[in-house]
Amino acid sequence: MTEAAAPEHAAPILRLRGIGRRFGGLHAVRDVDLDVAHGERRAILGPNGAGKTTLFNVISGDFPPSSGTIEFHGEEITTLAPAARARLGMGRTYQKSRLFLGLSVEDNLYLAVLGVQKGHLRPIRLRRRDGELRDRARDLARTVGLEGREKTLVGSLSHGEQRQLEVGMARAVNPTLMMLDEPASGLSRGERVALTDLLLQLDPSITLILIEHDMDVALRVAERVTMMHDGRVIVEGTPDEIRANQTVHDLYLGRGNRNDG
Ligand SMILES: Nc1ncnc2c1ncn2[C@@H]1O[C@H](COP(=O)(O)OP(=O)(O)O)[C@@H](O)[C@H]1O
Ligand SMILES: [Mg+2]
Repeated sequence: MTEAAAPEHAAPILRLRGIGRRFGGLHAVRDVDLDVAHGERRAILGPNGAGKTTLFNVISGDFPPSSGTIEFHGEEITTLAPAARARLGMGRTYQKSRLFLGLSVEDNLYLAVLGVQKGHLRPIRLRRRDGELRDRARDLARTVGLEGREKTLVGSLSHGEQRQLEVGMARAVNPTLMMLDEPASGLSRGERVALTDLLLQLDPSITLILIEHDMDVALRVAERVTMMHDGRVIVEGTPDEIRANQTVHDLYLGRGNRNDG
């Protein structure tokens, strides 16, 4: 087919308008408008406390917003529960790992797959579908580069492998939108390269929003970058525009964290 993109691609997959979130008197996120296109790779950058994780929590439904609206695939989801959003195709990871360290790679993925089944599977139905769900868990392990590690206890994986597994857990919902919160944090240089490669190989139909502290990872993976500071979006642009932006330099690159440019 040589037709142009399907009509639904004209509208953004995610649209935020006037999103704010307060914690008591603290405005963690304020007045954020954000449009993310289908299949886009978007990075969200910003210093600690900028409101990045809170914004993810509002998008995923973990916290309701104090103001504003959220549309996903053109439907308003502002007050929808997190599990319902997951079933609509939102997958995410958390800045603080939520892996079960005492279980194997496969069991962690299995639980993630099981978690997004509609309703609770009755035991008989579950037994019948168990093989299918296990296969899916092993597929996911392969997709994120953990083939051969399925039976390994998660606690004995390297940090890099744990981050890969978190990406696999987020993929368990068959996401159309995947949100990763600082997937490269705590990784060695080599592990960061492996993770960046994994993200670059991701199915191009999956929309990706990446919170990243590491500029190298963010600017390599993202097509557009949103920079937050003090709860607000202060700059948005392509990686080149971000590299050239004085505000970004002042806020972010000033502390000897210089690239070759
Ligand atoms: N659950 C919470 N309760 C109270 N304050 C919070 C909570 N979560 C985040 N904050 C505050 O909101 C601000 C933004 O935090 P966060 O979204 O975690 O920033 P980032 O991810 O950019 O580092 C910070 O001042 C933080 O202390
Ligand atoms: Mg954070």
